[in-house]
Amino acid sequence: MNATQEQLKVKLQQAMAAALGAEYADADPILATTNNPKFGDYQSNVSLSLAKKVGQQPRAIASAIVDKLDVSDICESPEIAGPGFINLRLKTAYLEAQINAMEVDSRLGVQKAKYPQREIVDFSSPNIAKEMHVGHLRSTIIGDSIARILEFKGHDVLRLNHVGDWGTQFGMLITYLREVYPQALTTANALDIGDLVSFYKQAKKRFDDDEVFQEAARQEVVRLQAGAEDTIHAWKLLCEQSRQEFQVIYDLLDIQLQERGESFYNPLLTAVVEDLEKAGLLEESEGAKVVFLEGFTNKEGQPLPLIVQKSDGGYNYATTDLAALRHRIEKEEAKRLIYITDSGQGGHFAGVFQVAQRAGWIPDDVEIVHVPFGLVLGEDGKKFKTRSGDTVRLRDLLDEAVFRARKDLEARLKEEGRTETQEFINHVAEVVGISAVKYADLSQNRTTDYKFSFDRMLSLKGNTAPYMLYAYVRTQGIARSGNIDFTQLGSGKIFLKEETEFTLAKHLLQLDAAISEVEQELLPNRLCDYLYQLSDKFNKFYENCPVLKSQEPVRTSRLALCDLTARTLKLGLSLLGIRVLERM
Ligand code: ARG
Repeated sequence: MNATQEQLKVKLQQAMAAALGAEYADADPILATTNNPKFGDYQSNVSLSLAKKVGQQPRAIASAIVDKLDVSDICESPEIAGPGFINLRLKTAYLEAQINAMEVDSRLGVQKAKYPQREIVDFSSPNIAKEMHVGHLRSTIIGDSIARILEFKGHDVLRLNHVGDWGTQFGMLITYLREVYPQALTTANALDIGDLVSFYKQAKKRFDDDEVFQEAARQEVVRLQAGAEDTIHAWKLLCEQSRQEFQVIYDLLDIQLQERGESFYNPLLTAVVEDLEKAGLLEESEGAKVVFLEGFTNKEGQPLPLIVQKSDGGYNYATTDLAALRHRIEKEEAKRLIYITDSGQGGHFAGVFQVAQRAGWIPDDVEIVHVPFGLVLGEDGKKFKTRSGDTVRLRDLLDEAVFRARKDLEARLKEEGRTETQEFINHVAEVVGISAVKYADLSQNRTTDYKFSFDRMLSLKGNTAPYMLYAYVRTQGIARSGNIDFTQLGSGKIFLKEETEFTLAKHLLQLDAAISEVEQELLPNRLCDYLYQLSDKFNKFYENCPVLKSQEPVRTSRLALCDLTARTLKLGLSLLGIRVLERM
């Protein structure tokens, strides 16, 4: 809902109270935007919904409300249509005032949050010595965009990377490291063991094949937990190596993140179990300490346990998440915790949140949300794999996107007979390639699975990054060919005459509403839709309304609309983590 809609809502409520009685003062006036300009801009069907309660015909109710309704500063006289709809049409002068106000506002009409608060976005969160896969890519892209939007709304956002840097797998990895690189355990130098993922596979093979090795690995876990110096040294080396590999991806994607891995919470784990015990929630099940979850049963109808301490005394993923949750609430004083992972972890988070809730660890003013997303599928609709059946390495995937963007660009340059420098080509290819991957992910409703297709995401047509980038380039092209400095147009120059100008202006004014919606619902695809429609409305305006060739004062007015569209696109795309290009 934007500011206009909010004002109209209040005025309708006042009219309802005056016409029907004080008890209607906070009834919902059911105000919606109309899809058909014939019905004006907004329509309320409150009279229809109230007919029974009030005991009158909807049309009679509508006219009683309209009699008391004073919206003359915003709308033309309200009209009653059909069975009793109230149609409201915005006054041109009102729209012009709004759009001119937006034009001089550096935030483009986007209000800051009334109650800024500390919010934690837990995203990306890959695992040490394992491949950062497409699931982590989705989490990284979606989490970054959500964090950017919350930051822009004025919240104090902590971006946390809950890296999987602890667990029994380190026993195996360190034992293997001792075997193949004994020198690594004593030298201060960084480790160069090449590809950590193949290292992991080799270690796993050793572990599976050899019982002596297994026992050594178990001992190594004990040493790690006890903080033995050489073991900790080896652990740090492994983490450092992974961190460098992750950083390559973060740099390519322009991601800011603070690492706070699972190991950070180690000292807090015993207290979690103790406090669950005190709260009377803990039970023993097959030697493990568990909390039985309410409302979760297995196939046999038995209640499902959330294990917080294994029978060997070790803690697990859930214990760590319980400790992290407490730390985030108590020490970080966050008011909203947002976790971004694939929907496969829905059960894990539901269990953790329930246990924290029942233990009384979640104050009433704290909101905890799991933001799930679907799988990434190949074009064949099956799990995303390379042709040889391996998991796709993120590095390769991003390189390929840039490579293909470059091919497309070179073909287009040839076709248009343009010559450009290598520097230009490199820059455009990188921005287009990376943006395409990001936008393809963000523009989907994140809860559904999505099919990864380079061809589709790099297309200049449709709801894609290149289409959006191109709309921006078009606006800048207008300025270039008319030798216009958009910043020198002066303010208050926009007026609206043509249908396509009205449509564009009204859509521009919805930016605040679109962004607030993402802030609430955490669905970045809503912002993508907004920007896609904006590009489309801008293109229609541009086809119908000559800009540079028109006479003053129309020319300046239209140039200002181009500039406002450009700034809106640039801001909106930046909130998706996408940079614009001046030319492409
Ligand atoms: N490391 C986990 C994985 O790769 C994701 C962690 C998500 N965050 C959390 N607090 N559990 O699946």
